[in-house]
Amino acid sequence: MNKALRKAVIAGNWKMNKTRTEAKTLIEELIPIAAKFSSCETVICVPFTSLETALELTKGTNIKVGAQNCHFQKCGAYTGEISAGMLAEMGVEYVIIGHSERRQYFAETDLTVNRRTKAALAAGLTPIVCVGEMLSEREDGITEAIVMLQTIAAFTGISAEEAKKIVIAYEPVWAIGTGKTATDEQAEEVCAFIRKIMADKYGNDTAEVMVIQYGGSMNPGNAAGLLAKENIDGGLIGGASLKASDFGVLLEVANA
Ligand code: 13P
Repeated sequence: MNKALRKAVIAGNWKMNKTRTEAKTLIEELIPIAAKFSSCETVICVPFTSLETALELTKGTNIKVGAQNCHFQKCGAYTGEISAGMLAEMGVEYVIIGHSERRQYFAETDLTVNRRTKAALAAGLTPIVCVGEMLSEREDGITEAIVMLQTIAAFTGISAEEAKKIVIAYEPVWAIGTGKTATDEQAEEVCAFIRKIMADKYGNDTAEVMVIQYGGSMNPGNAAGLLAKENIDGGLIGGASLKASDFGVLLEVANA
């Protein structure tokens, strides 16, 4: 498996942070920083309310814009939801699917993750599909079983060609927003396991070009070790994506 075949994707997940005005300030700070680092893909996944602002400001820059969720139906009576087609038409390129916070607080299931992933692909978006175990699951020794279940469910009915367009984010739930990062070895172990699942399903040629990120308290202090690992192709970053200088360090590390 050759890491050089894959372009790292450093994606900020802003979660429910930043008003439109605040988003504008942060993006304006980010643009000149990101411009210096072109050997990774830079993505900011902003709240729906800031998508238009982000798209306008990043036009002609090397920053791509993503959303944090999309519905699986094209349209209809789904109050409060946003379809993948609506995002694609705006110029959004990425969408996070099945984040553990959606699974935990908004009843997202493996089935809806699979449906949303298919809807995102159909609309031409790049899904960032999140998988990861909870602390109790790690302690019970079922990390691999949980990650396998989530990954296989998410990729059900998806072809090898489509799979190549999907980014997988391994985010151990216990490491999210806790300041408790998985060690480089723990993160690598699971990312390698996910690549093996993809290889078993789609073959090595597909698995070796698929981008698999780590997410969970990634920050300027720990990014170098994580990103140096063979099977970690970037990061999905929460807290550290809300400060231009911190996010800039992560881009720098990914470009080193
Ligand atoms: P933190 O980087 O704040 O731990 O969040 C990680 C995450 O959930 C990214 O999607």
